[in-house]
This record gives sequence, structure tokens and C-alpha cells, in this order.
Amino acid sequence: MSPRSRGPKLRETSAPPQGVDAPTPRRVAPSARSAHWEAVYRTKPADQVSWFQPHLDASLELIRATGAGRGARILDVGGGASTLVDDLLEAGFEAITVLDVSAAALAIARRRLGEAASRVRWIEGDITRVDLAPASVDVWHDRAALHFLVDPSDRLAYTRQLRRAVAPGGHVILSAFGPEAPPKCSGLPVHRYDAAGLQAVAGEDLILRESRSQIHRTPSGGAQPFIVCRLQRQEARSTAASEPCSGQTAATASTSRSAQ
Ligand SMILES: C[S@@+](CC[C@H](N)C(=O)[O-])C[C@H]1O[C@@H](n2cnc3c(N)ncnc32)[C@H](O)[C@@H]1O
Repeated sequence: MSPRSRGPKLRETSAPPQGVDAPTPRRVAPSARSAHWEAVYRTKPADQVSWFQPHLDASLELIRATGAGRGARILDVGGGASTLVDDLLEAGFEAITVLDVSAAALAIARRRLGEAASRVRWIEGDITRVDLAPASVDVWHDRAALHFLVDPSDRLAYTRQLRRAVAPGGHVILSAFGPEAPPKCSGLPVHRYDAAGLQAVAGEDLILRESRSQIHRTPSGGAQPFIVCRLQRQEARSTAASEPCSGQTAATASTSRSAQ
């Protein structure tokens, strides 16, 4: 059986829970997606973009709440130029991967980190298309990347990726525009979520550990309502099924560009 076919059958949410946008056919081609984000990060200072926060305090808190140790393989999906990686390094985490569709965003984060950037794995790629190794992630974190996937097929690809990459017992932290948030972010349409919607993306067999509503204050003073969920994948039932992929580093990507 191929690793992609393992696990429970995936289900697209054709009848979305309350507070979740209905599936929409507006598909953003991966090349257009990356062109959009390259343009954003090349033209706007990283601390002026609407999603900027000096520190992702809620994310850090939720990552700590997982109880993950320093060696935990953490993947920041759509990490962009955010300072989460700086704070995770500062906290002593040793196996951090930042993945983003924009090379310019990753370059900003790497420049800012200087030498410390060499302690992070960087993957330039689209989360719906990169080839992440099975069970290679202990903590999957996504703040404000998932909600740009407005096409159901892209969300399904995201779900498949997550379920393949997150190890049994691993944690998933998803942060997205809430039901009351604007319908666009960075000029792009977004899919808004409630906790049930985020759970549906992660997979309904994941255990919802906590969810919070939050207001993000943009650098220009705007208010953006977010929903944040921490979920956990159940441990595999038999030892054979839960055997970790020994020797595999977090989030090995063979079809994306990566650099240490
Ligand atoms: C709103 S920004 C959030 C950045 C960061 N997570 C933060 O909270 O500061 C969205 C990020 O997701 C990235 N992104 C959007 N779609 C993506 C995709 N399909 N795969 C990987 N990264 C993506 C963008 O390049 C951008 O850096």
C-alpha cells in the first residue's frame, strides 16, 4: 500500500459547518499564487503587511501547550517572514522547518536570523504540491496560509498532505480568518472558518484539544477576527503501524526547493 493511501478516507466538506464559507470554484493556479506572494514580499516591508505581529504569542503558547520537546519536528506552513522561527530557536527547539511558496519571504527571515538560519530547514514550495515525507512532522503550525485555499481541491490536497506528514500522536495548530473576518486578505479571497471547519480540514478523527477566537490588530489599526485550534492526531493502534520513519528529518521535500 502506498503511504498516500494509508489512513482513513478523506472527506471534503461539501456541507460546511456554520460560519464556514461555502466551497467556491475560484481556483488560484500555483504559479499565480507564488507570483502574488513574491510581489508582496518584494514590495512591502515585512513589518507593514497586514498579518504582521512582532511575536506570534498565541502560536508560541499553543506550541508549548503541546508539550513537544526540543527535538520535536516543527513545520511552519506558510511561515513567510514571520518571527515564529526566531522565537522557537530562542526557546531551544532544534528541528524547525519553515515552508513557504515565496522565496522572497524565506530570504527575509533568513537574513534576519543571520547565522542562526543554518539551524533551520527552509522549503520553498506550495503546501498543496510539495512531497513531505510520511510521519515527518510532530507539530504542524499554520497561521493564515490555509485560509487562502479557496478551492475545495486545494483544501483536499492540504488535508492529504497534513495527514500524511503528521506523525501519530503529533499536533496540529491551525489559525485562520474566523466567520466574521473580511472575505479577503492581501487582496486575495479567503475561506473563513469556525472550529468545526478547521477540524474538518485536519481530519475529523483528530482530537480537538482547544480552540480560541482572537482579534488580530493589523499594523494600520484594523481588526481581523481569527479562529485558532490545537488538535492532536491519535497514536497509532499497533506498534507496526506507528513505527516512526527512522532517520527521516522533518518534512523532507523532494519536489520542492529546499536549503539548509
Ligand atoms: C498571511 S501570510 C502569513 C505568514 C505567517 N504565517 C505569519 O503569520 O506571519 C500567508 C503566507 O502563506 C504563504 N502561502 C500562501 N499560500 C501558500 C501555499 N499554498 N503554500 C505555501 N505557502 C503559502 C504566503 O507566501 C505567505 O507567506
